[in-house]
Amino acid sequence: VLVIGIGPGGPDQITVQAIRAIGGADVLFEIDRTDDLVLARREICERHLPPGTSPRVVALAEPRRDRSAAAAAYVSSVDEWRARRADVWEQAIGHELDGDGCGAFLVWGDPSLYDSTIAVLDQVLARGRVRFEYDVVPGVSSLHALTAAHRIPLNRVAGPVLITTGRRLAEAGMPDGVGDVFVMLDGSCAFTAIAPDGIAIYWGAYVGTSEQLLIAGPLAAVADQIERVRGDARARRGWVMDCYLLRRS
Ligand SMILES: C[S@@+](CC[C@H](N)C(=O)[O-])C[C@H]1O[C@@H](n2cnc3c(N)ncnc32)[C@H](O)[C@@H]1O
Repeated sequence: VLVIGIGPGGPDQITVQAIRAIGGADVLFEIDRTDDLVLARREICERHLPPGTSPRVVALAEPRRDRSAAAAAYVSSVDEWRARRADVWEQAIGHELDGDGCGAFLVWGDPSLYDSTIAVLDQVLARGRVRFEYDVVPGVSSLHALTAAHRIPLNRVAGPVLITTGRRLAEAGMPDGVGDVFVMLDGSCAFTAIAPDGIAIYWGAYVGTSEQLLIAGPLAAVADQIERVRGDARARRGWVMDCYLLRRS
């Protein structure tokens, strides 16, 4: 099994290694949803599949996740959702791959960053009912697409960087002792909930794609604008994926 990072959405931000890996797979396991992300994955594959290769696509039912869970129950609701995903994937790997067959999971951005594919595969292996080996092919992450788009380094000289979620930022604010905080998975503009003095924000949505939106500046000056632009984009497309770096001056 291959876990292949395919970059943050732009068809040019996929690596040569990933393209080769996709072309060498017998089966592409595709999460069975009809949203733009699935379509974008498909487009990336169609654009880059080496001539003469046509992996079979197997749709995997996606268990519903309870997103209403309160913060305290968040981890257990994710665990439960992963276990149900593991049920589906175990079946699929067992049934769809021959003894030496190769199945691929295409993962948005890089598979190591806020993605559960690796954890779910580990869970399937730990159950011991199907046996397989898996490798991970890295991808361009949204983090690196954002820093490149803004032409900024991620860290400052010998400085630490915290990578966190919007939920955590809203709960805990800017942490002490860290000047650079990269925030993902923020559905509610958590940057509006922190004291903005002395903080700059580098924000981007649909980064790396033709729809890319970028805004940067002192948080106090641009927070409202980002909230408005994000809201408009979401209303227009039905979904928005954004991330940002908060940098103390
Ligand atoms: C489930 S995480 C997956 C991250 C992914 N593995 C990566 O390496 O970027 C989804 C989050 O990644 C960020 N993200 C992914 N693609 C993005 C893009 N093209 N532009 C901005 N943010 C993106 C958003 O914060 C989104 O909420």
